[in-house]
Amino acid sequence: MVQLTLPKNSRIRTGKTWPKPAGASNLRKFSVYRWNPDDGENPRVDTYFVDMDTCGPMVLDALIKIKNEIDPTLTFRRSCREGICGSCAMNIDGINTLACTYGMDEIKGDVKIYPLPHMPVIKDLIPDLTHFYAQHASIMPWLETKTAAPAKEWKQSIEDRKKLDGHYECIMCACCSTSCPSYWWNGDRYLGPAALLHAYRWINDSRDEATPERLDELEDPFKLYRCHTIMNCAKTCPKGLNPAKAISEIKKMMVERAV
Ligand code: SF4
Ligand code: SF4
Ligand code: FES
Repeated sequence: MVQLTLPKNSRIRTGKTWPKPAGASNLRKFSVYRWNPDDGENPRVDTYFVDMDTCGPMVLDALIKIKNEIDPTLTFRRSCREGICGSCAMNIDGINTLACTYGMDEIKGDVKIYPLPHMPVIKDLIPDLTHFYAQHASIMPWLETKTAAPAKEWKQSIEDRKKLDGHYECIMCACCSTSCPSYWWNGDRYLGPAALLHAYRWINDSRDEATPERLDELEDPFKLYRCHTIMNCAKTCPKGLNPAKAISEIKKMMVERAV
C-alpha cells in the first residue's frame, strides 16, 4: 500500500528552550534543528537566545557562541570562516547558504537554522555528503591528457584561462544541488548542478584532451537531462556562480556533436 504520510520518526518535535543569558538586553532568538542518532528520539527544534551585543555579525558567529557558551552538544561543520571551504553550508532562514558569510542583518525576525535539505543527516546541522562527493569524483575532476606531458607545466593562453572563470571558484558547498528539485527527487542518478558545473569546467579547459569521453559519460537520460532549468541553483549559490548556465552549455555541446 502507498504510504501517504511521513514516517513517525521524521516528525520534528518542539525541543528545549535554553535559558536566556543573564544581564543581556539585546537578545536574538535562534531556532535550530537538532537530531542525535544515538538517543533514538525524533528530530527537534531547540530555542536559544544570543546576546547580540557580544556576538559577531555572521550566523556562524552566533552558532559558535551558542556552542561555546550555552550548549556544547550543538554540532555543525565549519573551518575557514570566510567562504572558502564550503563546510558551513546549511539552510538559514529558508535559504541554502554559508553560515560564515551570511550576515544576521539580512534576516528579519528569529533566525531559523536547518541542515541542507533532502540529504541524510549525520547529526544536528551536518548532512551526509558521501553520495554528493562520489558524484563529483565520477566526472573525473582532474586534467585528462593523451599527449606526452611537457617538461614544465601545461600552458594555457590568457583567453583560454578566462573561460574557466565562473566555474573554478566552486567550493563544493552543495547549496545548489540541495536546492534543486530535480536533485531532490532523482539525486541517486541525476548528477546535480555542482557535479555538472565541475564537469563543464573540465570540458571547457583547453588543456584537457578527454572531451569526447566526458560527453559520452554524461549522455544519459538521468545524469544530465534531469535539469529542467528551474534555476534554484543559480539563485542560491553563495559564490554567485551559475550552474544552470554550465549545464545548458553541456547540453548545447551534445546537440552540436550530434549534427
Ligand atoms: S537549473 Fe537545473 S540544476 Fe539548477 S536547480 Fe534547476 S533543475 Fe536543478
Ligand atoms: S556551484 Fe555554488 S552552490 Fe554549488 S557547490 Fe559550487 S559554490 Fe556551492
Ligand atoms: S566556514 Fe568555510 S565556508 Fe564557511
